[in-house]
Amino acid sequence: MTKVFSGIRPSGKLHLGNYLGAIKNWLALSEAEGIEQAIFAVVDYHGITTPFDPKKYHEQVMDVVLDYLAAGVDPDKALLIRQSKVPQHTELAWIFNTITPVSWLDRLPTYKEQLAKSPKYNHMGLLDYPVLMAADILVYKSNLVPVGEDQMPHIDLTNEIGKKFNSMFGETFEPVKAHMAPGARIMSLKDPLKKMSKTSDEGIALSDSPVEIKKKIMSATTDSGKEVLYDEQKKPGISNLMEIYALLDPKIKNLKQIETMYAGKSYAEFKADLAEVVIETLKPFQMKYNELKADPGHVIEILERSEERARKLSSATLNEVKKKIGLE
Ligand code: TYM
Repeated sequence: MTKVFSGIRPSGKLHLGNYLGAIKNWLALSEAEGIEQAIFAVVDYHGITTPFDPKKYHEQVMDVVLDYLAAGVDPDKALLIRQSKVPQHTELAWIFNTITPVSWLDRLPTYKEQLAKSPKYNHMGLLDYPVLMAADILVYKSNLVPVGEDQMPHIDLTNEIGKKFNSMFGETFEPVKAHMAPGARIMSLKDPLKKMSKTSDEGIALSDSPVEIKKKIMSATTDSGKEVLYDEQKKPGISNLMEIYALLDPKIKNLKQIETMYAGKSYAEFKADLAEVVIETLKPFQMKYNELKADPGHVIEILERSEERARKLSSATLNEVKKKIGLE
């Protein structure tokens, strides 16, 4: 039986990488046959492990909730929760803390990257981030986690923690699998060797206006040469743009088709068409977002209903865990 869980940090506006690498992937999964449970979270406790503005934070959390719903998460098929409203996540994380060696955490690339970005933010929460992520997943006994490629080390760690718990206290958690879609690694428009991220303006936010989208795509870094050809090594800029095009336009079956369409044409022609594809894709999303924003009561109702159910589901696991370790 498949139980899906995934989460997004409210650390900035969601971008095309989040949509293609995660949300689009989840939507397909939550519609698939044989899914017993799907839970999507705004991981607001994870979001405070890196610099944030407390005055804007609440709005940022709600903004991600709106993004989820506008992108098509159906609250009748999936639970949509704020992590901090389900304290069972942090409770299980504490228990996992007592069995996770520090050496499993301080070697992780995500920890090192964040530390390099904000050296003053070297605190326990940042180091412990992946343990809370393991708890997010295992507190629902989820076994399928749709994520982008950058999250793989965290999924491996989740499995290490689950295995260690089982060996110390008896069989409780089954292995977790990451589910990765073709958009699992969308790169920055300015530096195609870096992944698109929420904290820089090098990506396309789902809320960007047509003018902004056009400007960003037309000025995206492309490579030497003029031909629209896919070559991740030699032409990472144009290759990233081609991938975005292929993932967004249902008429495109493969990257070869794009090469054929743009044979003898310039990068500028290709980019202008890509901008149109992105603008058209985001139009219905943005309309839905604005509708939802105008009805905050409805959104809160969805969240509270989901969170109540999530507390029930996660309590069952937490009680089992507490019994196994002798707390109850
Ligand atoms: P976050 O907020 O950094 O990213 C959310 C999701 O978007 C994916 N993603 C990308 N995919 C493709 N190309 C990109 N450029 C790109 N940038 C981001 C991420 O891989 C992720 O799937 N640790 C998680 C949040 C989390 C979580 C969880 C996820 C907390 N608990 C439990 C799954 C299960 C994170 O930082 O996501």
